[in-house]
Amino acid sequence: MHSFLFRFNALLTFSLTILALICGLSSFSDNFNAATPSADLQVLNINWFNKQHRNDEVRLRLNIKADLSSLFTWNTKQIFVFVAAEYETAKNAVNQISLWDAIIPTKDEANISIQVANKYRFTDQGSNLRGKPFNLTLHWHVMPKTGKMFADKIIKSGYRLPEDYK
Ligand SMILES: *[C@@H]1O[C@H](CO)[C@@H](O)[C@H](O)[C@H]1NC(C)=O
Ligand SMILES: *[C@@H]1O[C@H](CO)[C@@H](O)[C@H](O)[C@H]1NC(C)=O
Repeated sequence: MHSFLFRFNALLTFSLTILALICGLSSFSDNFNAATPSADLQVLNINWFNKQHRNDEVRLRLNIKADLSSLFTWNTKQIFVFVAAEYETAKNAVNQISLWDAIIPTKDEANISIQVANKYRFTDQGSNLRGKPFNLTLHWHVMPKTGKMFADKIIKSGYRLPEDYK
């Protein structure tokens, strides 16, 4: 009594098993991809540094160079990337302010070299930012076609805001 429906069902189950296996293998094989992302982050200019409504605010221009192309595998859907200023205050061990972000859809677009003004406001309550040392960190989230998303970052340290408003 191997009806058509029975055979169809068996075929479907088989296909789904293979599909699950391929998905499993593809996210597994991602773990063997030796990625070597690099980043070079520079503050080109502090365009503006003063108080805005009693809070320090910085407007700056960045030179962002980052080669994330090695993060792309055939299982990569896209990469979300952002550059953040990270600094310490009396209140918080880590303050993180996103300055710029982008979605990279293809490997061909993963070798970034741009000069940009901060896209999001770099502001802090009070007068904490004068002479403040900070890090610039390039963060990325790799969104795969199947499997788990993963994130990592490159930290660049040794930046400092001016002692005086300008
Ligand atoms: C800045 O980077 C240095 C070196 O990686 C690290 O030790 C420090 O904790 C970082 N500071 C912040 C506020 O994240
Ligand atoms: C990325 O661009 C830089 C120049 O900005 C170049 O030197 C480097 O070879 C490029 N990397 C790749 C993988 O194409």
